[in-house]
Amino acid sequence: MSALPCILGLDVSTTASKAVCINSEGAVLAQASNEHRLSSPFPLWSEQDPADWWQAMCESIRSVLSSVDANTVQAIGLTGQMHGLVLLDAHGEVLRPAMLWNDGRAGAQCDLIRERIGLDRLVATTGNDAFTGFTAPKLLWVRDREPECFAKVAQVLLPKDYIRWKLSGTYATDRAGAGGTLLLDLSTRTWAADLLKDLEIPEDWLPPTYEGTQKTGMVDSSCASETGLLKGTPIYAGGGDQAAQAAGVGAIHPDTWAVTLGTSGVVFAPSNHPRTESRGRAHAFPHAVPETWHMMGVMLSAAGSLQWYRDTLARGLSFEQLLAEAAAVAPGSEGLFFLPYLSGERTPHADPLVRGSFIGLTARHTRGHLTRAVLEGVAYGLRDNLQLLHDAGLPVPRRIRISGGGAKSPLWRQILSDIMRHPLSVVEVTEGAAMGAALLAGTGAGIWDSVQTACDATITVQEQSSPGEAEAEYARLHEQFKELYLRLKGVYNE
Ligand code: XUL
Repeated sequence: MSALPCILGLDVSTTASKAVCINSEGAVLAQASNEHRLSSPFPLWSEQDPADWWQAMCESIRSVLSSVDANTVQAIGLTGQMHGLVLLDAHGEVLRPAMLWNDGRAGAQCDLIRERIGLDRLVATTGNDAFTGFTAPKLLWVRDREPECFAKVAQVLLPKDYIRWKLSGTYATDRAGAGGTLLLDLSTRTWAADLLKDLEIPEDWLPPTYEGTQKTGMVDSSCASETGLLKGTPIYAGGGDQAAQAAGVGAIHPDTWAVTLGTSGVVFAPSNHPRTESRGRAHAFPHAVPETWHMMGVMLSAAGSLQWYRDTLARGLSFEQLLAEAAAVAPGSEGLFFLPYLSGERTPHADPLVRGSFIGLTARHTRGHLTRAVLEGVAYGLRDNLQLLHDAGLPVPRRIRISGGGAKSPLWRQILSDIMRHPLSVVEVTEGAAMGAALLAGTGAGIWDSVQTACDATITVQEQSSPGEAEAEYARLHEQFKELYLRLKGVYNE
């Protein structure tokens, strides 16, 4: 059992609850992950049971503590899927399944928010337009469609903050995650009181907000007996998964952007002051690093598209096998396109009704073509998001770091470099969001004197992929890809 001082990062992701224990050099001493189910009982719905998160997280923590002495855990940092709506009653009991970031049912409530607040004021205050997966529209959906449940609401939490509540009995949230509710004032980094009043949402339903490195509470006795953690172990705010992931790969200054290829696909750009896209089409939130901000583009199904494809059309085959078949196919998949809109889309197309599609199938196409088309379709989507950030006025960064499950594939990284037209460097990181949460917590606990020092001490950049021969051909095909959405959106909306 390791007795070295360590920091624990906890991540409530969409697929699993994960615990990662690192030392001050960033070496992983122990890690564990336990999966949870996602349910989609109706089209556009995406839900999980918070009790599943807690059970999976307890198992992950207990598993880590079987090889790390609980006495040595100096700090705990939290991260998790953003925007999820967790509703508690006055006794802290969960009122309904959590509505997740990729839930698309609240389109009418987004319209209502725009009408009541006005798009200009909404963007000037929160930095964002209303997107269906954000927390506020989903809360209004519960008000409109489940009034009995709404009448019992006493506390609104994000997924990671539900785990915080179970760990410490404290209601609190980080400001990066709070930005994703659509209820935070982007400049002051506090709840937007006037907006809350106009939307008739009581401010005392929302937890106090903290910078990522601030302490929010301590492990309480009931959590200590469930997990094996020591009572009194300090817990730090951490950050929403994208901001924590960015900290975990060192994307904390405007010159370094991050691309994450997880279930969702993200292009993340740090900033030293609040910046917005004029119509709020790109997300603008506080960063998890104190007193900094970020903008990002988020596609809802990135590596999630490949996962769906494997589970549905290539069941039983390994990703390695599929990727090897795709590598044998020429760039462009012989005219086959995949539109990666399996959960609708968030950016740059705020469109919950658009759908995923294979377009251009012929009898010549093999499974390798289908797989390659999926990889290329996701890369075109990320390129669209890169462009969105440039259109919002952000200059080309000095470097882009890529991480997430999909980034492990050299083929996918090469396709991404070719299509995004930018070198991409891979960061050697297991569970980047949990790692980032640990770096934020360790900084708060004084193990490092700043997040920058924490990144310098722990992050190793591996190889780099650069745009190659296929770049020009992909630039041409990307124009066709963009055209497909424009032509099909009316069909899907009907
Ligand atoms: C970010 C977002 C997703 C989730 C998934 O805006 O919605 O990245 O956080 O983890």
